[in-house]
Amino acid sequence: MAERIPIGADHAGFALKERLKSELGAMGYEVDDVGTTSEDSVDYPDFAHRVADRVERGEARRGILLCGSGLGMSYAANRHHGVRAAIAWSPEIARLSREHNDANVLVLPARFIEADEGVEILRTWLETSFEGGRHVRRVEKIEPESE
Ligand code: RB5
Repeated sequence: MAERIPIGADHAGFALKERLKSELGAMGYEVDDVGTTSEDSVDYPDFAHRVADRVERGEARRGILLCGSGLGMSYAANRHHGVRAAIAWSPEIARLSREHNDANVLVLPARFIEADEGVEILRTWLETSFEGGRHVRRVEKIEPESE
């Protein structure tokens, strides 16, 4: 069965989201588009929480978010337990976010990358595995210990 990947964007990320949806379809993934549906101005947290909720609840293994800078989406998504949302502006950062940090949400800064770069970043991120080893301990330490 095809993996179902949630993807969300605000108005700044809308156009790139549409491009990435067709790329995901061509790669054989099922796309779960949580919005937005146009370039009309919206609030990025509304979409970040929809994608992050699905990952937090285990309904999706990983998700994708886009906004202008990537910052707002990552702040909101990273409030969710077990979510590690990484802003990637190059394939190299995308690769490292998987290999070292086991990122489960990819955040793209749509106003700072070309569409073709976005596709390359997405492909790299989807195809790269977590390295494990010493990185497991570090990733486990991300969650603050309760006092
Ligand atoms: C929208 O103008 C912009 O603030 C938003 O896309 C994002 O960059 C926020 O972090």
